[in-house]
Amino acid sequence: MGTLSIAWLRTTLLTGLAAALTLTVPTEARRAEAPRDVTFTKDIAPILQRSCQTCHRPDSIAPMSLITYEQVRPFARAVKQKTALRDKPGVMPPWFIEKSVGIQGFMNDPSLSDLEIATIGAWVDAGAPEGDPAHMPPPVAFRDLRSWTLGEPDLVVSSPAVTVEGSQPDWWGQLGSTPTRLTEDRYIKSSEIREVNDIPPGTTLVGTVGGLNVFHHASVTIIGPDGKVDPTSTLPAHEVGRNADEFDPEAGRLIRAGSVISFNNNHLHANGRETTARLEVGLRFHPKGYKPTVNFRGIFFGTTEIDLKGNEDSQRVDAYYTLPENGKIMNFEPHMHAPAVRMCVEAIYGHTITTLNCSGYDHTWVRNYQYLPDSAPLLPKGTILHITGWFDTTAKNRNMVDYRNWTGGGNRSVDNMFINLSYMTVMTDEEFRAAVSEREAKIQAGKAEAVGCLTCFSAQPTTLQLAQQP
Ligand code: HEC
Repeated sequence: MGTLSIAWLRTTLLTGLAAALTLTVPTEARRAEAPRDVTFTKDIAPILQRSCQTCHRPDSIAPMSLITYEQVRPFARAVKQKTALRDKPGVMPPWFIEKSVGIQGFMNDPSLSDLEIATIGAWVDAGAPEGDPAHMPPPVAFRDLRSWTLGEPDLVVSSPAVTVEGSQPDWWGQLGSTPTRLTEDRYIKSSEIREVNDIPPGTTLVGTVGGLNVFHHASVTIIGPDGKVDPTSTLPAHEVGRNADEFDPEAGRLIRAGSVISFNNNHLHANGRETTARLEVGLRFHPKGYKPTVNFRGIFFGTTEIDLKGNEDSQRVDAYYTLPENGKIMNFEPHMHAPAVRMCVEAIYGHTITTLNCSGYDHTWVRNYQYLPDSAPLLPKGTILHITGWFDTTAKNRNMVDYRNWTGGGNRSVDNMFINLSYMTVMTDEEFRAAVSEREAKIQAGKAEAVGCLTCFSAQPTTLQLAQQP
């Protein structure tokens, strides 16, 4: 047994090394070469339609529309500059996953490829020509302003309304609950939470996205007909600038007939004008008869031991968490505050370390990155997840209110947080080995991405632990 484990460990390490050496295999070469003779109608408009116009259109949240040539031309330089930021705070579209390292398969990913970024750059450098109007793609048919990004929900539940004065301190409190009036148990496929308020559409955005909202964040809880919270029906939090959640198709979340939705954990802030607002929770359901095939749990970890000096770039904070069970990590959600600019998460098991992801962070846009099922890391019980955060408290971080002050951990927007809000599906050793074999077969067949050492250290979770303790 001992010999076997050591042999296995050696193979593991070698495979790990091989994987580490081929860690970065993006589908397109980095710094792609731009095509020639780039024009707006032929090359640029399709990019804007896919990745920009959901926000950059009349009466949506962005400050200008990016639909016609006349609308885009005055912003051509800004479009080049913002898209070239790639994964740094300020990038457009607001999606910060670094493409040079780690997993790349995410649901609802609007980010631009290197080729698209290079194409925009080449277009602007050539004087931003319009090209032949006949090449213009048909316009996107937008749903109305109040549309939901993941499509029309099957159930919409509204919170009670609340009024926030133009200037008042941050407020934490309870708004009460609302019955769902659901008459049958259903499984939730996706959840989207949005703020609805009385700020007139078309109001020009001043400062950050928070200027058009009063909810900084809210935790929304489903309470069953028995008055209890079912851990298999958690909904991710709402945060200003946050994207919607589509759950792993195997792990739909249960909402029982007669449930109520409780809106009792809210952080509100003033935005300069008296605003009356409420939250709407939009749920899409799996078809009737659907049953989830896996259990999942939250793995929220981080530290409050944060000690940031004023006016200093590249300050670092670390936190660790040991996985209590085997499983598949479903998402990466860096949760930090204004000074944060980047987070990385890596998996450590035995002698193997693999970077799962790194992302920039811009507190104007709190993003959740959900792995595609075949890209989600499979990790054995005992794996240590390590998150590293980088903070910039200098004036070049546009989210800093006052860059001179020391700050530590705390709840207010001017305090700091350092947390990864992940979920994982939970597997027995047997299920885990089966999932690993299935993934390996897909990787071999080129049907799943192979990043670092995602499965190489996970085939025999118990054996490796034996090998570590001779
Ligand atoms: C999720 C919504 C959203 C998407 C998608 C989005 N934007 Fe934006 N964009 C905004 C908002 C809101 C602002 C203003 C606040 C900010 O800068 O964060 C903005 C600001 C900008 C600015 C700066 C405007 C100025 O006055 O300086 C540019 C340029 C821009 N976006 C271009 C783009 C391009 C190009 C894309 C697609 C490749 C894109 N945006 C995708 C919401 C979005």
